[in-house]
Amino acid sequence: MSNLLLVPLEDTVVFPNMTVTLTVEVGDEDQVLLVPRHEHDYAKVGTVAEVIDRVRLPGGGRAVALAGSHRGVIGAAASDSQGRLRVDVEERPDDEPRTGRVKELELEYRAVVEEILELRDADERVGAFLRSIGEPGALADTAGYSPDLTFEQKVELLETLDVAERLELAVRLQRERLAELQVRRRIRDDVESGAQKQQREYFLRKQMDSIRKELGEDEGSVIEEYRKKIEEAGMPEAVREQADRELRRLETMGEGSGESSMIRTYLDWLVSVPWAKRSEETLDPVHAREILDADHAGLEDVKERIVEYLAVRKLRQDRGIPNDKRSGAILTLIGPPGTGKTSIGESIAKALGREFVRMSLGGVRDEAEIRGHRRTYIGALPGRLVRALRDAGTMNPVIMLDEVDKVGADWRGDPSAALLEVLDPAQNHSFRDHYLDVELDLSEVVFIATANVAETIPGPLLDRMEVIRFDGYTVDEKLAIARGYLWPRQVERNGLRAEEVAVEDATLKLVVSEYTREAGVRQLERELGKILRKVATRVASGEDGPVMVDLATVRDALGRQRFFQEAAERTAVPGVATGLAVTGTGGDVLFVEATSMDGGRDLVLTGQLGDVMKESARIALSYVRSHSGELGIDERSFDDRAFHVHVPAGAIPKDGPSAGITMATALASLLSGRPVKHTVGMTGEVTLQGRVLPIGGLKQKVLAAHAAGLTDVIIPERNRADLEDVPEDVREEMRFHPVMTLGEVLDLALEPAVQLHAVS
Ligand SMILES: Nc1ncnc2c1ncn2[C@@H]1O[C@H](COP(=O)(O)OP(=O)(O)OP(=O)(O)O)[C@@H](O)[C@H]1O
Ligand SMILES: [Mg+2]
Repeated sequence: MSNLLLVPLEDTVVFPNMTVTLTVEVGDEDQVLLVPRHEHDYAKVGTVAEVIDRVRLPGGGRAVALAGSHRGVIGAAASDSQGRLRVDVEERPDDEPRTGRVKELELEYRAVVEEILELRDADERVGAFLRSIGEPGALADTAGYSPDLTFEQKVELLETLDVAERLELAVRLQRERLAELQVRRRIRDDVESGAQKQQREYFLRKQMDSIRKELGEDEGSVIEEYRKKIEEAGMPEAVREQADRELRRLETMGEGSGESSMIRTYLDWLVSVPWAKRSEETLDPVHAREILDADHAGLEDVKERIVEYLAVRKLRQDRGIPNDKRSGAILTLIGPPGTGKTSIGESIAKALGREFVRMSLGGVRDEAEIRGHRRTYIGALPGRLVRALRDAGTMNPVIMLDEVDKVGADWRGDPSAALLEVLDPAQNHSFRDHYLDVELDLSEVVFIATANVAETIPGPLLDRMEVIRFDGYTVDEKLAIARGYLWPRQVERNGLRAEEVAVEDATLKLVVSEYTREAGVRQLERELGKILRKVATRVASGEDGPVMVDLATVRDALGRQRFFQEAAERTAVPGVATGLAVTGTGGDVLFVEATSMDGGRDLVLTGQLGDVMKESARIALSYVRSHSGELGIDERSFDDRAFHVHVPAGAIPKDGPSAGITMATALASLLSGRPVKHTVGMTGEVTLQGRVLPIGGLKQKVLAAHAAGLTDVIIPERNRADLEDVPEDVREEMRFHPVMTLGEVLDLALEPAVQLHAVS
């Protein structure tokens, strides 16, 4: 035990075998105890050090050179006469335990430190110094030299008196250092090798470029090409920036990678939008009317409405009145198939001098169809609007939204919401396609929508639409269309010359009424095509002179007449009545059949009937039963009988109350044995009291009745005013019977009762 002057070292640890020069006060002592201190905390162990030199510093201060010798544990402390702290010191030089464990740790320690030195690219002399140390305790203390150890770790090392324990601690500390160094090295390596790879690729690409040049292929041609296309596209500022950004990415990436082909696809789309292209609009109502007339027969109301619409548009434009929700309403053409909606849309584009594109919405159930998928999707593409603009090649085309009534919605989002945005003048100047992800100005696009029925158009969309109805054509209108448009077109399509074939109006009319049953003219055009193919065959096989298409030619090409006198055949037996209905394909006649069978009191209904229609069948049966007396029906006919009402015409679902009087008539006919007149068609809702209520779609129904060869139509009294909509020529050829009660209906519709004379 010795008593030594305590020299505190602020946040510094001096180990045995270390020689240091410090500016500390040591008086004239030869030996002191150096004790690490942090704030007021002293370590429990210090280093006994010899004072080997005293130096005067240039500034006047004094410094001492001290050589650490061995550890000393601090004992009792006391101040000396000069107020300095002196302590009792239990001196603890390391013992030399050459146990196997210590040897092992020694080896381990050396190995770890060698690795560290290697990683650090340390001076060779450090390693040599390390190898020169023979004592395990001193070896462990070399860990204290490490700049990476914290003060606390160094103190812990100093306080560990047991050599084996100290070595263990030193190994652990050095391992931690090593691990940390290794991680750092790996990160650096990764970064470096990445950079090297980029460099390598850069050189390879340069080489490729020069090879291309040798071969006469332009260097960087792809990038240059895009640059040129972007330059020429006349994009708005923001889009241009986006394009340039992508181009830069493409440049640094080099061709060939998957990512770069995605960028190229994107750029292809971006430059395919006709950013700066627009048609000069010609908005002259007179000229518009001429074009509409040139392409379409009839359709007076429709053409007039369209011309008005265009005139208002022009006025607003000339006077700089911006479009709002009301004035910007979307022209919507609603009507049965083949009535010319799509083709008049084309004419509107022609009249405006704009490009025309059709965008079919039938079956679209995904918002992304309209708006595109985000680019993060594999195989993402822009939506249909962007594609429509690309196809149009201008930013102000007429875009026809075909079949808006067939847009669906499901979990993938509601396409009609996207459509609403597209159609809203307040929003559509900044439409954002998910794929392109830049703003598109759609405000100059003229949208026209078409639909077969209004009922299934999503409400909010319908709200924004200005509806023009196409009700279907009369036979005479169809004749005019056939003569003026369909026939010449089919003549040409079949390689014939106009003078090689002729047809009389009467024959065309026969094709219309006996071979087609439709509101439009699509089927008619097909039938004419069939006839003309036959004619073409004859002309091609050398037949002389103009071919006259007569009845025989028609029969030859089209077979037996299809629709003639269907009503007469069907209503020949009691229990069948001819009704009139409006379906998605326009007006149509339908035959309601009633039968009965023994047993039960059921009413069976078949033919894909909706609930409303079933309900009106029950009402009809109840009415007939409760009025059996007036109708001359034996009340016992109802006893123990089941009734069956069937509405044929395929699997088309039918609903609505307007077949009420037809079902009642069929039942009354069945029970009374009086057949329904074959010239009579009817439509009207019926109540339990037998009142006849008004129905919708009168014009379409009357046209269908007319086309089917019916001459008498029973209608509800309250629909009388709607007859005005029916074309004059049809009205002249038919008789209308407005009624208030079912009694009147039966009087008009049923053949007189046949007086059966008993044969004796
Ligand atoms: N009034 C008309 N004058 C001349 N051609 C007509 C007329 N109406 C229709 N057509 C012709 O009939 C064919 C069918 O018309 P279009 O395709 O426009 O029908 P649509 O109303 O769009 O039917 P859908 O509802 O099935 O789409 C076209 O070839 C069209 O030119
Ligand atoms: Mg169409």
